[in-house]
Amino acid sequence: MEVIALGCDHAAFQLKENIKDFLIELGYQIRDLGTSGPGSVDYPDFGIAVGEAVSRGDCDRGIVMCGTGIGISISANKVKGVRAAACSEPFSARLSREHNDANVLALGSRIVAPEYARIIVKEWLDAKFQEGRHLKRIRKISRYESGDTQWKQ
Ligand code: RB5
Repeated sequence: MEVIALGCDHAAFQLKENIKDFLIELGYQIRDLGTSGPGSVDYPDFGIAVGEAVSRGDCDRGIVMCGTGIGISISANKVKGVRAAACSEPFSARLSREHNDANVLALGSRIVAPEYARIIVKEWLDAKFQEGRHLKRIRKISRYESGDTQWKQ
């Protein structure tokens, strides 16, 4: 079973605990990178930690959470090889896998209720990258990220 890295800030601590329980129920292995309580922290610390765990290959995919899902997705996306998608409904979560091969899902605890977050997570976990025409677009992102000046070719 896949290993899923989890990370959140204080705003999403309860949601992270909820999603962790859900993933364990589903049979996933978890790498919980914090935060570990409701005290105020900075979301980049956790978004980047999850991004690095995925980028290094220590974890297969990651799920990051903050108040909106925005700050922590921006942070995770700074890590090479990470494609983090902030989603607030299941359709975009599914398409983020099928079209964008998103390897990190970002959720906002102030945007989605916990039960709805579970639906989004399940949709995202079950969806597969479709490759085909989408592959060359993903490759352009990777080439740009690697400093290839010919990335559009
Ligand atoms: C923390 O108050 C909040 O700014 C953070 O959780 C997040 O929403 C940032 O994008």
